[in-house]
Amino acid sequence: MNKYLFLCTLCCFIMSVLSDLKTILEHELCSRKDNKCFTDFTRAMFDTLVKGDKEVGIESIEPSFVERIDGNMPVVKYVLRNSTLRGFDSCQFRKATLLEEEQRLKLDILCNKFHMCGLYEVNGTLIIVPVSGDGDYCIQAKKYKILVDTKISTYEGDDGKDYVKFDNYKYQAELQGGLDFNLTNLFRGNKDLSDPFLRFARGHWKMVARQIQDPPISTFLNLMIDNFNALMKHVPLDSMVKD
Ligand SMILES: *[C@@H]1O[C@H](CO)[C@@H](O)[C@H](O)[C@H]1NC(C)=O
Ligand SMILES: *[C@@H]1O[C@H](CO)[C@@H](O)[C@H](O)[C@H]1NC(C)=O
Ligand SMILES: *[C@@H]1O[C@H](CO)[C@@H](O)[C@H](O)[C@H]1NC(C)=O
Repeated sequence: MNKYLFLCTLCCFIMSVLSDLKTILEHELCSRKDNKCFTDFTRAMFDTLVKGDKEVGIESIEPSFVERIDGNMPVVKYVLRNSTLRGFDSCQFRKATLLEEEQRLKLDILCNKFHMCGLYEVNGTLIIVPVSGDGDYCIQAKKYKILVDTKISTYEGDDGKDYVKFDNYKYQAELQGGLDFNLTNLFRGNKDLSDPFLRFARGHWKMVARQIQDPPISTFLNLMIDNFNALMKHVPLDSMVKD
C-alpha cells in the first residue's frame, strides 16, 4: 500500500476510535421524542465521559482513586479506604429515554466488569454469617445492570446558550454475572473462620452483592455523573436537540 494512503487510513481509524468533544458537537441533532437518537448521542459521549478531555480540563475517571467509602448498612458496617476503581470503560449506555415533561432522563447502563482494590474494615453479619476483619481487599463484579433515573435541569451559560445538567438521581442495580473477591486478614487471619466464610459468600454472591453494593455503586455513578456534567458544560442544548 502507498505510504501516504496507509497513514491516512491509520489516521481515519484513530479518529473514528477516539470520540472527543468535536465528534459530540458534530452529532446529528435529535428531535425531542427521538429516543434512538438520544441513545446514540449519549453513546457518542461515553468515551469522552470516561477518558476525559484534557483540552477542556476534564480528567479521566478510568481508573479513579477514592479515599473513603462508608458502608453503613443495617447489619454490616464497612469502610473502604484508598480504593482504586476500574471498569468504567467496560460500561455502555444501552438506552436513553428522555421524559421531557417530567424533566427526567432514564439511562439503561450495562457494565461488564467493575474492579476495585484497596483497604477494608468490616464488622457485622453478612446474610446470616458473622464477619469481621481489616486488611487488603479486591472485588470484581461482572455484568452490572444499572437503571439510572436522573432529574435534568437547564441553565444559561456565559455564552447565553442553554445547557443541561443532571441533578439528583435514583438507581436500581442488579448484578448478573458474578462476584469475585479476595480479603486478607479476615477474622484476624484465622483460616478456620475465613475459608468457610469466603466459600459461603462466593456461593451466595447475588445476595452478598445486594447487601453491600449501594455505597460502591453510588460512588461509581457519582464519578460518572460528575464527568457527564463537566462534559455537558461544553455541549449546548442547541447542539443536541432541534425544535
Ligand atoms: C470494627 O470493630 C473494630 C473493633 O471493635 C473497630 O475498631 C472498628 O472501628 C470497626 N469498624 C467498622 C467499619 O465498624
Ligand atoms: C491513603 O492514601 C493517602 C495518600 O496516598 C495516604 O496519605 C494515607 O496514609 C493512606 N491511608 C491509609 C489508611 O493507608
Ligand atoms: C483473587 O486472587 C486470585 C488468586 O490470586 C486471582 O486470580 C483473582 O483475580 C483475585 N480476584 C480479584 C477480584 O482480584
